[in-house]
Amino acid sequence: MIPIAKPLMGEEEKQAVIAVLESGQLAQGTKVQEFEERFAAFCGVKYAIATSSGTTALHTALLAHGIAPGDEVITAPFTFIASANSILFTGAKPIFVDIEADSYNINPTLIEERITLRTKAVLPVHLYGNPSDMEAIMEIADRHGLVVIEDACQAHGASIHGKKVGSFGTGCFSFYSTKNITTAEGGMITTNDDGVAERARMIRQHGMRKRYYHEVLGYNFRLTDIQAAIGLAQLGKLPEWTARRIENARYLTERLQNVLTPTVRDGYLHVFHQYTIRVKGDRDTAVKKLNAAGIGARIYYPLAVHQQLVYRQLGYQDSLPVAERISREVMSLPVHPALTLAELDMIVGEVNKL
Ligand SMILES: Cc1ncc(COP(=O)(O)O)c(C=O)c1O
Repeated sequence: MIPIAKPLMGEEEKQAVIAVLESGQLAQGTKVQEFEERFAAFCGVKYAIATSSGTTALHTALLAHGIAPGDEVITAPFTFIASANSILFTGAKPIFVDIEADSYNINPTLIEERITLRTKAVLPVHLYGNPSDMEAIMEIADRHGLVVIEDACQAHGASIHGKKVGSFGTGCFSFYSTKNITTAEGGMITTNDDGVAERARMIRQHGMRKRYYHEVLGYNFRLTDIQAAIGLAQLGKLPEWTARRIENARYLTERLQNVLTPTVRDGYLHVFHQYTIRVKGDRDTAVKKLNAAGIGARIYYPLAVHQQLVYRQLGYQDSLPVAERISREVMSLPVHPALTLAELDMIVGEVNKL
């Protein structure tokens, strides 16, 4: 089976882990700090704060911006559930705005009609590695005095006219093992805001600035030095891996027939965490056929968030026709940097046979 994702771990990662194991400093320490500094520079922001996952990065970022019970946060319904759950964790309410039919990201033209006196933030998701329309979103947020938290968990290195995602608002990244770079589990918050950075650091560490003086309610959301050492090795390889993802995507797009291939806007750098197509007809059977032929095609995501049982039970009854339709039509194909030309040709052949 050609897997949908493949963590690439080399000698550099192994040696880095061994060095940390031998150092005696295993939990959050100097490697985490180095990883934060390198990641901040990579994104073009002042601060990066490492956390234990993308989910805890989102949760911490929302708390650091003061999002609390009674607040509303506007977000996209077509995403991994963590984007919206992190809003629930703070006691605030996710408000879903439908997506664009071409980018699959939140539709900025529909945001303003959902803004109320309770709205505190907008949380766009750069789905599959394709940036949301941040220029339009920032303009709306500025006009209404809203915080912007970018879910960049799938979009390391993606950019709009050269400006990296995670540098428009407060960014949140994931280093889960299928992501474009990985630390097995891990996350990062990026920000230019001194106060947000300071509060995020406290919240991930039981509300402490000074050891054992707890100023606010916090959590244990720390990354370890073992993970950060892997992250540092991975970050060095990210530009080359991203170039390969983009090249693989181009190869597929030039050859696939009778399917809708991903669209990328002028000036947008899509980093192809997923290469996602839409098929006419019975999508689920098509995925089964591809899997039987050895292609690890997967569906991200078969249900929009507001349709998930947990959200239905919370009383969500939204009708978001674009998100609902797209969730019935999409499938993702392997695009990761370890694919060989023969594997790419096999994917093309099997998809065109459908
Ligand atoms: C869009 C999106 N948001 C949030 C997350 C949560 O990240 P993690 O799995 O590291 O908690 C993920 C990844 O799984 C994701 O894809």
